[in-house]
Amino acid sequence: MTTIAGVDPRPVRASQAALIRWMGITDANSAGFVHGGIVMKMCDEAAGIAAVKHSRCRVVTAAIDRMTFLHPVHVGQLLTCRASVNAVWRTSMEVGVRVEAESPRSGEVRHTSTAYLTMVALDDEGRPTTVPPLAAESDDERRREREAGLRRQNRLDERAQIRAGRDL
Ligand SMILES: CC(C)(COP(=O)(O)OP(=O)(O)OC[C@H]1O[C@@H](n2cnc3c(N)ncnc32)[C@H](O)[C@@H]1OP(=O)(O)O)[C@@H](O)C(=O)NCCC(=O)NCCS
Repeated sequence: MTTIAGVDPRPVRASQAALIRWMGITDANSAGFVHGGIVMKMCDEAAGIAAVKHSRCRVVTAAIDRMTFLHPVHVGQLLTCRASVNAVWRTSMEVGVRVEAESPRSGEVRHTSTAYLTMVALDDEGRPTTVPPLAAESDDERRREREAGLRRQNRLDERAQIRAGRDL
């Protein structure tokens, strides 16, 4: 693993990213709504952009830790995925993505999904590499950082419990 020594913390706002796309017929599933996989792909791309902007490295998605679908998205709506780095560990980052669907004719905007993805920074040889620290400045940013830590700890605990169960 390579390291980046003496790098200053980077503010959350410096790497925030948004992807906006108009949903068309080819995005629909057999029920006529936008396919969940289309939403997931856009979340993955938005998270990737935020993670690259924070780390200034190539990144890969290690895991999608959570993805909610609160309301269906319709063909003809504008889908916006806003991504923010929530927390940074050694080589990995949690990126949160908020998805909103806007009906362009009425202007109505609805929060349709939230996703949390773990992205890992890679060096030029494709090995995980350390990422700059995150400067969480606002109360909301500090809350998101805290909650990301909770999700990571829960994931590690779950993995340890499953391994222990298999070793019995
Ligand atoms: C993600 C990947 C680089 C991790 O490689 P690895 O050999 O396990 O590397 P390490 O053990 O050094 O772990 C590196 C980091 O990844 C994290 N990580 C590894 N597997 C993970 C998982 N399943 N979920 C969340 N984080 C994970 C580790 O916690 C570690 O984070 P930290 O350094 O901040 O503590 C590797 O598994 C990989 O390349 N996966 C394929 C990624 C890909 O192709 N994504 C696109 C899928 S379509």
